[in-house]
Amino acid sequence: MKKNIVILGTQWGDEGKGKIVDYLSQYSSYVVRYQGGNNAGHTLVVDGKKIVLHLIPSGVLHPNVIGVISNGVVISLIDLVKEIKMLKDYNFFINNRLYISNASSLILPFHIKIDLLREKKLGLNAIGTTGRGIGPAYEDKIARRSIRVGDLKNKKNLSNKLKKIVSYYNDQLVSIYKSSPFDYQVILADLLQIKSIIYDMIKDTTLLLHQAIKNKKTIIFEGAQGSLLDIDHGTYPYVTSSNSTIGGVITGTGIGSKNLDYILGVTKAYSTRVGNGPFPTEVFNDIDCYFSTIGKEFGSTTGRKRRTGWLDGVALRYSVELNSLSALCITKLDVLDNLKEIKICIAYQDVFTSEIYSNFSFCILEHVKPIYKTFPGWMKKTSGIRNIKDLPNPAYCYIKYIEKIAGIPVHMISTSPDRNDIIMIKHPFLKF
Ligand code: IMP
Repeated sequence: MKKNIVILGTQWGDEGKGKIVDYLSQYSSYVVRYQGGNNAGHTLVVDGKKIVLHLIPSGVLHPNVIGVISNGVVISLIDLVKEIKMLKDYNFFINNRLYISNASSLILPFHIKIDLLREKKLGLNAIGTTGRGIGPAYEDKIARRSIRVGDLKNKKNLSNKLKKIVSYYNDQLVSIYKSSPFDYQVILADLLQIKSIIYDMIKDTTLLLHQAIKNKKTIIFEGAQGSLLDIDHGTYPYVTSSNSTIGGVITGTGIGSKNLDYILGVTKAYSTRVGNGPFPTEVFNDIDCYFSTIGKEFGSTTGRKRRTGWLDGVALRYSVELNSLSALCITKLDVLDNLKEIKICIAYQDVFTSEIYSNFSFCILEHVKPIYKTFPGWMKKTSGIRNIKDLPNPAYCYIKYIEKIAGIPVHMISTSPDRNDIIMIKHPFLKF
């Protein structure tokens, strides 16, 4: 039996990881968010109710699961407290089973303001960030000036650090952006108020997880964003500011690779991307309208319309290799139900030289066009199917081709937003 599994996205985020984490969490003791921040939006549908989590691990909807937000995550405490309250309103009580790392860096109001002002100044060259202050917060982490969750425990130290960092940002806000400065006393007062709510959740989560491993507990590591948004391996500079590929688990938790038993890559049956940057299989007009409407492709964090496209097999193979994936979970297969034909990109062609590329490299993406293999659609309802034998043959062939191009098996298929509509081909926890 596999003990610890990683669930991460192979595309540009929004692959439907939240549902898969939620589903598999019933077999797990811990669920850990290890990178990113509240730029993520994990949508879960439980008993017909739609719940969107941005920061809290998706598994906590199961009453026996312990949620951990580890050191690799940047945390907006204001949003964390809002999310805890939102869950309470839905009758999910998590106060005594959510832990946050004392080493997590905080996202503070000036990070959000500077993120928004920078994007505005970039105009057409903007990254298209979620405007949640993620980039500036990670910059501070690397520059060793972050306020970390553990700093809340010492008021004097917190006040001194905050005064310094606020002055650093005020200089920029006033002189470069002609914007109003922040008063560090106001931010300090807010932090001290929130501290009383979250104090008991603050832990050395690395120690906590080492202990869990010693006690042979099962752990799910829940990725945010997708591999192609990774700061090192994604479509730089149009990426997020953390490692959304497998390395993020290790640095973001303090758990070594020996303890990661199985890595599941969640892949949407087509592609989407929010924000700017290259997207070789992007579609427009009718097909875009179809994916957006049927797939409800609007950002769960910002509400922005997602760009849509066909599945990119070249990028998928790259993600398989980047993350040493064990298997794939294909999501939103049912969105394709009414299409007469379906395409998968199998290679790229250089628009200037006509050279064919079968490998993904971010250096070539700006000047390639996709070469597609076209499949007949199945034009039948797959929504809600839970047994592989019930899939229409063309849908089964589509899945088999994905396995072929990815070079790894598909172990799960999601056939609707509902928590239980899953075709389980090989269970990551039970069938090894
Ligand atoms: P940031 O993470 O807010 O700095 O945004 C950087 C890029 O990552 C932008 O293109 C965002 O749209 C994208 N991004 C960040 N988080 C997500 C996510 O959860 N899903 C999809 N795209 C995301």
